Amino acid sequence: MTLPCITRTESLELTAEDLAEIQGLRLRAADFFVEVGDEPPTIESLESDLADLPDGSTRADEVIYRGYADGVLVGYAEVLRGWPAEDSWVIGILLVDSALRGSGFGHEIAEAVAHDAKAAGVRSLLVGVISSRTRSLAFWKREGFTTEALRRPLTIGTTEHEVVRLERGL
Ligand SMILES: CC(C)(COP(=O)(O)OP(=O)(O)OC[C@H]1O[C@@H](n2cnc3c(N)ncnc32)[C@H](O)[C@@H]1OP(=O)(O)O)[C@@H](O)C(=O)NCCC(=O)NCCS
Repeated sequence: MTLPCITRTESLELTAEDLAEIQGLRLRAADFFVEVGDEPPTIESLESDLADLPDGSTRADEVIYRGYADGVLVGYAEVLRGWPAEDSWVIGILLVDSALRGSGFGHEIAEAVAHDAKAAGVRSLLVGVISSRTRSLAFWKREGFTTEALRRPLTIGTTEHEVVRLERGL
């Protein structure tokens, strides 16, 4: 695997070009949206995902991680800082190009987030995973997200899911 180059961009500083680039990646990973019962990704759905934050958080708390291999965007993550507590961050989505999965890119992006969080004094990193997605669950457990914090129902479109929140202590 070529080690990805990881960039971090404040959500509020994303340009139209950045959004178009991330949208291109989401289209190359569109199987995920189909599998969870979501609409095919569009620029509008990307903007609404970025703005869809829990009470008490704003776009200023959000940072976007992008991983590039040979100059091409291979994966990205949406990360919310300071939620659900001051000393925790949560990964909202981590998505890798479907043709490039299993090459360690997801691991490198998740590690970059954990590294930054630790450097910022954060004590716990969280992620929400749809509990029926066994390969994703296995990925996160291997990344150290071994503590189950809570389970809750989530409806995407007309599909009902259960989301399990996993925690990694830093
Ligand atoms: C989960 C995901 C981010 C992992 O990134 P990745 O670059 O494929 O992961 P790595 O190469 O570092 O690790 C591979 C592991 O990821 C997991 N994985 C999940 N879905 C996978 C897929 N479609 N292809 C390959 N690996 C996958 C597996 O646990 C795999 O290990 P295995 O080969 O022993 O089964 C990526 O597969 C992806 O984008 N999946 C779809 C979106 C998703 O489910 N995101 C997580 C919830 S937000």
